[in-house]
Amino acid sequence: MFLDRFKSFKSYKTETTPCKIKLSSNENPFDLPDWLKEKIGEEVKKIPFQRYPDPTSQELKEVIAEFYGVKPENLVLGNGSDELIQLLIMIIGDIKKPVMYPIPTFPMYQVSADIVGRPKIEFPLNENFQLDKNKIDKALEKKPILAFYASPNNPTGNSFDRELIKYTASKGVFTVVDEAYIDFSDKQDFVSEALNSNNIVVLRTMSKIGLAGIRLGVLIAREDIAKEIDKTRPPFNITYPTQVIGKIVLSEGKDEIKKQINIIKKERDRMINEISKIKGVIIYPSDANFFLIKVSDGNWLHKELIKHGILVRNMSHLPGMENCLRVSIGKPEENTEFINTLKEIINK
Ligand SMILES: Cc1ncc(COP(=O)(O)O)c(C=O)c1O
Repeated sequence: MFLDRFKSFKSYKTETTPCKIKLSSNENPFDLPDWLKEKIGEEVKKIPFQRYPDPTSQELKEVIAEFYGVKPENLVLGNGSDELIQLLIMIIGDIKKPVMYPIPTFPMYQVSADIVGRPKIEFPLNENFQLDKNKIDKALEKKPILAFYASPNNPTGNSFDRELIKYTASKGVFTVVDEAYIDFSDKQDFVSEALNSNNIVVLRTMSKIGLAGIRLGVLIAREDIAKEIDKTRPPFNITYPTQVIGKIVLSEGKDEIKKQINIIKKERDRMINEISKIKGVIIYPSDANFFLIKVSDGNWLHKELIKHGILVRNMSHLPGMENCLRVSIGKPEENTEFINTLKEIINK
């Protein structure tokens, strides 16, 4: 049959159990303020729904360019950064040449490579979830031409050593730095490297800063690189509503987003501080809007939290992630409830 090669294929899974408190998808817990929603409502009403959107998303690109301090010509937009990951895996060099990435990491690199049958080189992070130069060298021996580094990394929360990312690129590998969580980090980003290199590009997403529902991902690259990549995306991948909403939120709502990001960062630091005092729970440092914890029985804790109406992401099934749970930062009151519930369950 035509689709036989997908028979054993596992599609991307998310946590779907309905719970009062959802800390499972690394979303921004805060909705947009009413005044901004009203503005969006007025503008969405004006959309001619029978028409295709602008295939170049020019006006939206201008707003995003200003948001990131780059030029519109440096951008390629995607229906979420998932679409851009899929695109890069399809188009960068000979598809028979491997893609490399460390594990554990964001599963879509693996899923996208498997969909198109691109060979993968997966190499482990060290015990602190950092990149290891020896492992990178071993991976490079297998002649990859594309690399993905999520930094800060999902699900571990830490940022990778910049020099090792640059080292990979210096070996002639087209290096994608996926900065989905960079807004929550105080570490330096890779934008200036991307703007000045023919084999480093940066991925960003609006999903983690409050717009997961509109699906908007961004690739930042040198003008000539962005131009070539842009030729390969589906022509109307950014919907009319996404273009309209993105423009309003990233211009008029910019300060609101920044305010929310600051609250999330403060809450993350508070949670890490509180949870690190709980005996029997190991908590890892995080530069993201989530953190990872390790307990003696991750599957059990995951179920207990659900019984208490709290959904987090169970990572126990992944290699190197035994008994680990990933917890997104929620609203302050949700975070307090999480901390108290965790203490109660662990001390039972
Ligand atoms: C590292 C990383 N990259 C990309 C994405 C995908 O983001 P988007 O919603 O823009 O497709 C995620 C989502 O969880 C992620 O963790």
